[in-house]
Amino acid sequence: MYIEDVAEWPTQAQLRLLRAHLPYSLPVLRRLQVAAGAFDGINPAGTTGNGTSSYAHVLFAYDSNERPSGVDGDHVPFAAAFLEPHKAPETAAWIYASDQDQALPPVRAEDLYAADNDRPDNWVVDRGAELVAAWSPERRARCRRLVLALLRRTRAIAQALAPVLAAQLPARFGIPSNAAAFVRNVKVNIHDGIRYVLLHPGPPEADADRTAVALSYYDAYDKWLFRFEDVPVLSHPEDTEYETGLPDKEDGQGQPSLVWDSVRTRDDAALVISRTAIPRTEETLLSVPSVALREKSTAPGKEGTLQAWAFVGVDGSLWTLHTEPAYRGRGLAKTLAARMFRQYCGVFDAIVDDGKANNESSGEGDGWCAADVSASNRQSQGVCKRLGAKRTWATAWIVVTYDSLGDDE
Ligand SMILES: CC(C)(COP(=O)(O)OP(=O)(O)OC[C@H]1O[C@@H](n2cnc3c(N)ncnc32)[C@H](O)[C@@H]1OP(=O)(O)O)[C@@H](O)C(=O)NCCC(=O)NCCS
Repeated sequence: MYIEDVAEWPTQAQLRLLRAHLPYSLPVLRRLQVAAGAFDGINPAGTTGNGTSSYAHVLFAYDSNERPSGVDGDHVPFAAAFLEPHKAPETAAWIYASDQDQALPPVRAEDLYAADNDRPDNWVVDRGAELVAAWSPERRARCRRLVLALLRRTRAIAQALAPVLAAQLPARFGIPSNAAAFVRNVKVNIHDGIRYVLLHPGPPEADADRTAVALSYYDAYDKWLFRFEDVPVLSHPEDTEYETGLPDKEDGQGQPSLVWDSVRTRDDAALVISRTAIPRTEETLLSVPSVALREKSTAPGKEGTLQAWAFVGVDGSLWTLHTEPAYRGRGLAKTLAARMFRQYCGVFDAIVDDGKANNESSGEGDGWCAADVSASNRQSQGVCKRLGAKRTWATAWIVVTYDSLGDDE
């Protein structure tokens, strides 16, 4: 096995390798494109460099003794991670393994999408076992070996970084409980089949490493994939207002029209944070692109309050789609999400072709957009279906306990 450990930004070869595995590699590819500068200058603060930090690592583990050459080595199995340990309790790592690419041989056409739009209401959330059921014991063992190597390297990086963070970010990592958690575990976004494989070693004759990873937290979502060309045009970039269909405000229950805007002030970010249970920081929310609808100002010098919003998350997915109750059922969420996908899908493409600083939008880029939606969230599923998305594999947020990872091979 060969491990490539690059500080802060991905290489072009790494980005191209991941792009060869679309759509399966989408979350890690997008996270690395954001690290490479996809959001520079287009976030509300207009800042650059927020997608990465001096603490970040790009890790690739290849199933070979050296970095594969050839056509970017896309025939060699690998696992890839972007690691930002200091982001805890936000997601600190994203992991992709090429074995989760369902288009790899043996190809079955029906495997491109592991699921479709018409599953029943009692859809199973925990789908890890189902997702890897067709994998050979050798494929499971290889995938485990590569991902375990990344997680063990992550542990080594966190342990080396702990005293640095305690000195440089004392308000967070100087606190004993935070410092202890930092060297004890890591929050990772991972394909749900890979989570299952990490928890369940295969037969000993196929998999010598008997490590069974321990998790202190597990939360599963369905990955919904959108194609740019399927997303309907529900508003136009030149539109400045959205007609809600509500009557003139007499009772405080909403306005007939709202103004297109973004989440751009500290008050905006505080409102968003107050409406979600997912840990999000003001700093992160203001560093990513967003689309929002705001009430018109009712007094000079006073901004109207946001009533609906959506973000392009640091992994390119639709983040925190929300409509305030007074405005629900009036098409705000679908119009917001469609506008956001059409506006920002193209910002990722240039990062692969032209390098880190080039941020010119080419319209639709590679055309892939995504949302992670809880299997129990019927409203959000409704929004995704309405925008032409397909429900595909399951993804999980897990908190991995470092002690359970065993030692390097
Ligand atoms: C999910 C949410 C954003 C929808 O907002 P909204 O503005 O009311 O949604 P829209 O009016 O744009 O509805 C879009 C589609 O979703 C579906 N939908 C909306 N509400 C629904 C409900 N209660 N049940 C089933 N489907 C629903 C409909 O299919 C609708 O399409 P249609 O108008 O063409 O029929 C809103 O309910 C909300 O903020 N919920 C709480 C936060 C949340 O769950 N966010 C998502 C996190 S991933």
